[in-house]
Amino acid sequence: ALLDAKIKEKGKMYFGSCADPNTLSDNNVQTILKANFGSVSPENSMKWDAIEPSRGSFSFGNADKLVDFAVRNGKLVRGHTLVWHAQLPSWVSNITDAATLTTVIQNHIATVVGRYKGQIYAWVDVVNEVFKEDGSFRSSVFYELLGENFIHIAFRAARDADLGAKLYINDYRLEIPSKKIDALLSFVGRLQSSGVPIDGIGAQGHFIVNQVGDVTPQLQRMADTGLDVALTELDIRIETPVTSALLTSQRSDYYTIIGACLNVTKCVGITTWGDSWVDRAMPGYGSPLLWDDNLVPKAAYDGVDTAL
Ligand code: XIL
Repeated sequence: ALLDAKIKEKGKMYFGSCADPNTLSDNNVQTILKANFGSVSPENSMKWDAIEPSRGSFSFGNADKLVDFAVRNGKLVRGHTLVWHAQLPSWVSNITDAATLTTVIQNHIATVVGRYKGQIYAWVDVVNEVFKEDGSFRSSVFYELLGENFIHIAFRAARDADLGAKLYINDYRLEIPSKKIDALLSFVGRLQSSGVPIDGIGAQGHFIVNQVGDVTPQLQRMADTGLDVALTELDIRIETPVTSALLTSQRSDYYTIIGACLNVTKCVGITTWGDSWVDRAMPGYGSPLLWDDNLVPKAAYDGVDTAL
């Protein structure tokens, strides 16, 4: 496996991609995934709205297909995502009392983590995007009813359901100095001193070309907690129109960001994220990944390949 084999030679665990049955149904994409990637993360199929659309009624079909693909092809699976304010069904956001919400979180995690016990390398994320830019906790049904204790509840339930899976907290824009990373790191310290089981910190890594900067110092701060670190949703989008000059800049941005993970011993792996997400959610941007629309490797691929 080309990129994955190379990153393993550098002592890392995996070079990964998001995937789901819709991606896998394209044979050419599947060929690329098999050849270049050592882990897959469900882009949507394990999110709360997809996997527990109504209370106690679980829909595992797509997630099962992805895990089966991984097991058959010797890929690691990174679980994504257990507790997140987005893609959350309204039956959860409409809960109004703490006791019910606690039971619901515990049952959700016990059921989902329990189903894939032994097959998930890491749950990245047990909690996703819990901080705001100013370092305070994001408002959500979880935070409103339970305070930061919802995070303790989630990590404990995940550990109880699968002793072997690494448990991560994940967030975006942790790659630059900010109140957000300061708050996240001090919160992680509090989790560690109160014995909450946490193994890693994930930095999503959604970048814009020519704005990547020097990420090594923030990854190193995360690593200094003693936990594993990962780049969990790496993509570097280009403001349209995409020009050859911007594609060349993107090559060097990929080279730099891959190098940042290589610089930090505790950075265990890198996962790239979705074309579809950037095209849909970010009008005016495109071409964030390593292959073009015809599945030809871009200069960005060469940037990663050269860094490794
Ligand atoms: C995105 C998916 O790529 C899209 O297909 C979906 O429509 C929306 O979510 N942060 C996350 C990811 O943690 O789960 C998101 O993925 C992108 C932002």
